[in-house]
Amino acid sequence: MTFLKIEQGDCLVKLSELELESVHLVISDPPYFLDGLDADWKKGLEDAPRGTGVIGGLPVGMKFDPKQGIALQAFISEVANVLKPCMKPGSFAVFFSQPRLSHRMAIGLEDAGFEIRDICAWHYTRRAQFKAFTMDHFVRRMDISDQEKQKLIEKLGGRRTPQLRPQFESLVVAQKPRIGTFIHNWTVHETGLIDASAVLDGSVPTTVMTVEKPVRSKFNGHLTVKPIELIEHLIRLFSISGQVVLDPFLGSGTTAVAAKRLHRSCIGIEINADYIQIAKQRIKEDV
Ligand SMILES: C[S@@+](CC[C@H](N)C(=O)[O-])C[C@H]1O[C@@H](n2cnc3c(N)ncnc32)[C@H](O)[C@@H]1O
Repeated sequence: MTFLKIEQGDCLVKLSELELESVHLVISDPPYFLDGLDADWKKGLEDAPRGTGVIGGLPVGMKFDPKQGIALQAFISEVANVLKPCMKPGSFAVFFSQPRLSHRMAIGLEDAGFEIRDICAWHYTRRAQFKAFTMDHFVRRMDISDQEKQKLIEKLGGRRTPQLRPQFESLVVAQKPRIGTFIHNWTVHETGLIDASAVLDGSVPTTVMTVEKPVRSKFNGHLTVKPIELIEHLIRLFSISGQVVLDPFLGSGTTAVAAKRLHRSCIGIEINADYIQIAKQRIKEDV
């Protein structure tokens, strides 16, 4: 018998209430910008001050502040410390991350006692915005003559801010230390080994997982919905039928939909009540 338990609240609190060593797999997609860690996550982005940095109009969290990574690492360590006790020995925790912050995420997990087994890439080819700005706009607003502006624009030669078009997100694959050998740990907990028959393409599972971004659905306004097919792949790879999958940052419920389809139990925690409603509707409609 499998179950679905969807809870509203702060995962830092809710995780500490879970039964010890009861979870077989964690899929975690934490907030990407620390500015928006609270319940008003989306609002935080909308309200971000405009025109205050070098690149005007970007939300605060995208201004490449080094403090952002340091704070993310501290937050992930805090989450990992409350997460670890409820996980079975040898079980995996897969954490989504912006590539430029994945080192911080990996260290946060490692400092909490997890082993980093892999860094994988969720690769997509479409719907990725090229956000690099040309310098022309800034030059035109400079307090210099038109002739000097023209000269400077020519000198810059169309160069842009250093942001390549993103084509992947990182997946940090962490493992709670096993007890004994791989075989001993599997015999006792049925965790710690992967199902090599779970493939997206080719003959064996690889560190690059190509799945296109999902199309926006009418009732799901969440900003960072992950593809169900990708989450299904991770669940197949790292768990077996009937086991318990936990998502501490459930968002619009992708992990719960995937877990239900694959006959796994799911515990989902989400701080925002609106997203909980969306998740429940998605589970009901299997979309
Ligand atoms: C990147 S999104 C997850 C998206 C999800 N994977 C999906 O496919 O819909 C992160 C989510 O974490 C939630 N969140 C932020 N801080 C939280 C906390 N302390 N506890 C639980 N959820 C939190 C946000 O409201 C947001 O919905």
